[in-house]
Parts: sequence; C-alpha cells; structure tokens
Amino acid sequence: MKLPEKVNVLLLGSGGREHALAWKIAQSPKLQKLFIAPGNAGTSCLGINVDVQPSNFGSIKQFVLLNNINLVIVGPEDPLVNGIYDYFQDDNDIHHVPIIGPSRLGAKLEGSKEFAKDFMIRHKIPTAAYKSFTKHNLEEGYAFIDELNAPYVLKADGLAAGKGVVILEDAEEAKTELACMINGKFGTAGNTVVIEQFLKGIECSVFVATDGVNYKILPEAKDYKRIGEGDAGLNTGGMGAVSPVPFADEEFMEKVRTRIVEPTIKGFVEDKITYKGFVFIGLMNDAGEPYVIEYNVRMGDPETEVVIPRIESDIIDLFEAITFDTIDKHELIITDKVATTVVCVAGGYPEEYKKGDVITGLDSETNSIIFHAGTAKKGADIVTNGGRVLAVTSFGDTIQEAIDESFKTIENIKYEGKYFRKDIGADLIK
Ligand code: AMP
Ligand code: GLY
Repeated sequence: MKLPEKVNVLLLGSGGREHALAWKIAQSPKLQKLFIAPGNAGTSCLGINVDVQPSNFGSIKQFVLLNNINLVIVGPEDPLVNGIYDYFQDDNDIHHVPIIGPSRLGAKLEGSKEFAKDFMIRHKIPTAAYKSFTKHNLEEGYAFIDELNAPYVLKADGLAAGKGVVILEDAEEAKTELACMINGKFGTAGNTVVIEQFLKGIECSVFVATDGVNYKILPEAKDYKRIGEGDAGLNTGGMGAVSPVPFADEEFMEKVRTRIVEPTIKGFVEDKITYKGFVFIGLMNDAGEPYVIEYNVRMGDPETEVVIPRIESDIIDLFEAITFDTIDKHELIITDKVATTVVCVAGGYPEEYKKGDVITGLDSETNSIIFHAGTAKKGADIVTNGGRVLAVTSFGDTIQEAIDESFKTIENIKYEGKYFRKDIGADLIK
C-alpha cells in the first residue's frame, strides 16, 4: 500500500516543533495541501492555519472529511495520550486516514511514568531502579527514600506539563515532597509517584521513527532545559538544541541501538502495542553507558528544530514508510552538518510573561531558519504569543560556526523583553 501521489496533510500543534515539521513537509513534491491546526504566524506562510484545537477530536474528524485529508501528523503528546490514534481506528468514516503517532496504549509510555518503567524492566532496558507509591503505601515510600542515597528523584506518574519531576538533596524534604505530590500538588498526575535512583552523567535525546516492527534512528540531539546560562534556574520547555552530539559517537550509539532501541521496538511487538510514529528517548550517558531517563511519544521541542533540518530525504516518504510498514526499506539521508537552535523567549518566562509585543527584524537577511514557536499575526504585525517565541536554527561545519550564525540572526530580531541563552552548545565545544 502507498499514499496517493499527492497528499493533503493535517499537522496538529502550534509550536516551534510544528513549524519545523511544516517547513519540511512543505518541501515535499508529494504535498498537495498542508493544513496546520492551530499553527502559528510561521506556519501560516507554509500552509493554511485552521482554527481547530488538537484536543477536539470531533472537529478534527469533520475537518479531515471535508478537506480530503490523507495523512494526520500529531505534534504534541496530549492528543496521543488521549487516544487520537484509536479514535480514528474505531471510526468507520476516518479509519482509513493514517495517523503518525502511537496508539493510546503506546502513548502511555509518556502518559504514565509507572507504565514506562514497567515496560523498561520487562524488556531489560537499562534505566534507574525505582518503586512507585500511592496514598495507600506512603509509609513504604518514606522507607524507600531512607534506603536510597541522595539526591532523590520523585516523578508524578501522569502528564504534568513537564513539571512533574522533582529532585531533592535532603531525605526529609523528599518525604515532604512525596506527601505533597500524592496529596494533589500536580493534580491527579501525582496520584502515583515514581521514586527512582539518581543517574549521573550527561543527557542526550535519541529519536526513532518506527512502523511498530522496524525502525530508523534519526539524528540525536542535546537540549538545554534550564532558563539560565550554565544550566541554572527554572526548568523550561527547552532553550536551545544541538545536533549531532559529539559524545554520542559510533560506539555509544551502537550501545543505544542494541540495548535500548532494539528491545524497545521488540517490546512493542511482544506487548501488542501499535506504534506508528516517533519515539523520543531521553538518555543519560554515564561514562559511556546509556540509561533511559524517559520515553516521549512524539518529537521533542526544540530538538525537532535541529533534527528535522538535518534530514535531507523526503519526509512524506518517511511518513509513508511508517504508515505502510516499510521503514526497513526507507532510505533516510542525513547531512553531516551541525545544526544548532537558540530559543528566544518572552521576558519573565518560564514564570509570568507578556503576550502581544510586536516582533521586528524577522525579514532581515539571514543564513538561519527562523522557526516560530509562540507567535501570532495581528493585523500587519507579528506579535509574541507564548513563552517560547522563536527558535533560530543555523547550520555550520562546527557547533561554533552554527551557533555564531544563530546569534547573528537573533541580533536583528527585536521585541520587548527578548531573552535567550548565550551558552547553547558551549559545553560541547572543546
Ligand atoms: P523527565 O520529565 O523524566 O524528562 O525529567 C526531567 C529531567 O529530570 C530530566 O531531563 C533529567 O534532567 C532529570 N531526571 C529525571 N530522572 C532522573 C534520574 N533518574 N536521575 C537524574 N536526573 C533525572
Ligand atoms: N525538549 C524536551 C521535550 O520536548 O520534551
């Protein structure tokens, strides 16, 4: 089976990740029409933004039928965790329309930390030792904390908008935090709390495209999560990214492939998990040995803004291979060039910040690709519309070359309160 010669694509989401996907999809000779729901000011230059929310499956169905959509790409995790794949499968009107993303069961790898840890242990995938607790065995949780050495890693089981992980140095503080989480600090996401061993090392993200049986490993990336330089301050959605990652050399990636990627995909088959999409594996490299920190069931943001630009082969071909179980035959072509992205955020982010400030300089001459994250059109202006505003991606022969290009582009972009980290990639430059 194949997709039609020309396809109408519906892409769900509105961030920098979706702008990067839209940018790549728009380059495909196989594209007829691209719709982005709801999209941002950047995606509106590549396709048609539509006022449909990714959480509203009924409206998505209507839109798909009215516009002869041949392929749906899901950017963010929420619709996946809420079962958009199964919703399409179970509906006779739309079950012929492929969705790029896992089934509801597959999406539990991101939707439930406990499910993900059980999966890893069952399939002998290296990860931190853990136990999970609810209000019924809180006392055992306290005892488990006493058994572990500091620091203590506590994770709310469910989706908590990236905020559900707390790392503490002090055992008593960890016990208080455990009680707070179980008592609703993160809503029902914390009804179950996973406590795990702290992993040392340096993180990187590995991305895998799979049809559920076979797979292709996409370029890896490193992202920078904290708001402040030197990785200080509050956690954010991500302040920048670099791909490739110098320490993820051939030897390390071979360990990742044999110890983590292979057993993960085999695990899907053994556990009868339908999975046609991207697996994002958050890894810790501890002295050359990879451990899984977490699974996400979608592409990362801002990692997508460096991973996707490094793919030279056609992305609709990749989606077709994912859909029709031919990924083992798909020829994925990756450039050797380094890509970096620097995220420009609104002043105050990740705490309170303003929206609606006019952005200028977006049309200055540049060698970078300016991906929009939180932007909107307001009359003739483009204005800020989120905490992460833009992700400025550049290529180079080295990280330094690429990052300098991103900084040069950012200099010309102006809006009130603009902030970005000036040390993206610096730790990787020898
Ligand atoms: P997660 O939401 O699972 O990605 O966790 C957020 C961040 O917490 C990760 O990116 C890591 O920096 C950190 N983290 C999570 N689990 C561990 C662990 N077991 N050991 C050390 N750091 C961790
Ligand atoms: N950059 C991390 C994420 O997308 O979850």
